[in-house]
Amino acid sequence: MTFGCQMNVADADWLTQALVSRGWAAVSEGEAQVFVVTTCSVREKPEQKVYSLLGRLKSHVDRNPDVFVAVGGCVAQQVGEGFWERFPFVRLVFGTDGMAMVPQTLERLAIHPDQRISLLDFLDHYPERELTQDGAVGAQAFVNIMQGCDNFCAYCIVPYTRGRQKSRASDAVLTECGSLVRRGTRELTLLGQNVNSYGQDRHGDGTSFAALLQRVASIPGLLRLKFTTSHPKDIAPEVVEAFGQVPNLCPQLHLPVQAGSDAVLKAMGRKYTRAHYLDIVRSLRAACPHIALTTDIIVGFPGETAQDFEETLSLVKQVRFLSSFSFKYSDRPGVRAEKMGLKVPEEEKSRRLAILQDLQNCITAEELARTVGTEAEVLVEGRSKMQDSDVHCWKGRDEAGRIVNFPAQGDDLTGKMARVRILAAKKHSLLGEIRGDVW
Ligand code: SAH
Ligand code: SF4
Ligand code: F3S
Repeated sequence: MTFGCQMNVADADWLTQALVSRGWAAVSEGEAQVFVVTTCSVREKPEQKVYSLLGRLKSHVDRNPDVFVAVGGCVAQQVGEGFWERFPFVRLVFGTDGMAMVPQTLERLAIHPDQRISLLDFLDHYPERELTQDGAVGAQAFVNIMQGCDNFCAYCIVPYTRGRQKSRASDAVLTECGSLVRRGTRELTLLGQNVNSYGQDRHGDGTSFAALLQRVASIPGLLRLKFTTSHPKDIAPEVVEAFGQVPNLCPQLHLPVQAGSDAVLKAMGRKYTRAHYLDIVRSLRAACPHIALTTDIIVGFPGETAQDFEETLSLVKQVRFLSSFSFKYSDRPGVRAEKMGLKVPEEEKSRRLAILQDLQNCITAEELARTVGTEAEVLVEGRSKMQDSDVHCWKGRDEAGRIVNFPAQGDDLTGKMARVRILAAKKHSLLGEIRGDVW
């Protein structure tokens, strides 16, 4: 059961494969003897979700006392053995650095019902995990290139829950990417909390992120390469230029801005100004005019005035992000912003969020509408919810990450590439018709 960011999704995928290769099986909730939950602590809401899920899982333990739960990820790192008291059926807590040990540990716990184990230590190197070489792979895969974060943005708990930044050796990244592509993966996403500072910590092997991108991009057979997340302060000119030069690097970038006012950016400790951010956007568009930009925004950071918020709106209008994730500021235990004064009242945060999201929805709709009449290459992710009466409908993404739905007769297209002509734009997706062969 997975909550949180793509790093948690990638961790959970790895753990599933590692357990399956040891003879475990993924089953429905009613049949499960062990529940593995990967958790997120970035705001209060996802943290609360974990407690309500554990409350619900208790009913399975009440029916069968052999059932137990393993809690991993950021809430596990934050709360640690505190879980023992509130939820005695939690018998394993593990942080990201403990992940590599989880398969063996679960086996041990299954044999010794009296034991409880915590794997919460931060290691001083990137903990390599066993590679699962033989299992089936999907058309899309995530590959971790680093752990942790050193930025300590004033609002953020991640540096405390994921530890200091540790770059993975470039050869290990290349080996995993090469193995995935050989086995059929067509799209890779390189993952880290701040990929632009890859290699710049003392655990790096001297390879820069730009150099790593070039090496991964040149793996024969790789159709699409993406990466996330990028901190604006560290994006190198070589990475910006790569968008105009590397053919399989997708023309899309998630570049969290967080706020449009210099005063708020400074208080957040983001280490760039509005002008610097807009300069990066200009150079990205000069390198790759059709690049699609997306972002994260926090409203109601402590001290954010009505004027500061206006500056966030004006930045959104100026950049015209294809989409954005926006959040109300949420106090996290132990971070600098928790102790800051001038907290914005809850109702005001909600009001600002609604205004920002309305603006973004308009921009998203206008940006999507601009693609009507063009052709796109779509990597099919699966069946679409939208169903025609007698033809199957498929859902995928174009090279910029826009969702495209289209009907097509015949075989399962999951994992295939299709050329699609865009016929119409909906609120958050596009509708098209297939043109020619799929591959
Ligand atoms: N490493 C990424 C962000 C990871 S957290 C980066 O630096 O861009 C994902 C997003 O959650 C952040 O970009 C931020 O917008 C949001 N976020 C983090 N802490 C938050 C908090 N305390 N309250 C509200 N939103 C928060
Ligand atoms: Fe959090 Fe900032 Fe690190 Fe992103 S860069 S994970 S927002 S501390
Ligand atoms: Fe959440 Fe941890 Fe990711 S706090 S966003 S799961 S790094």
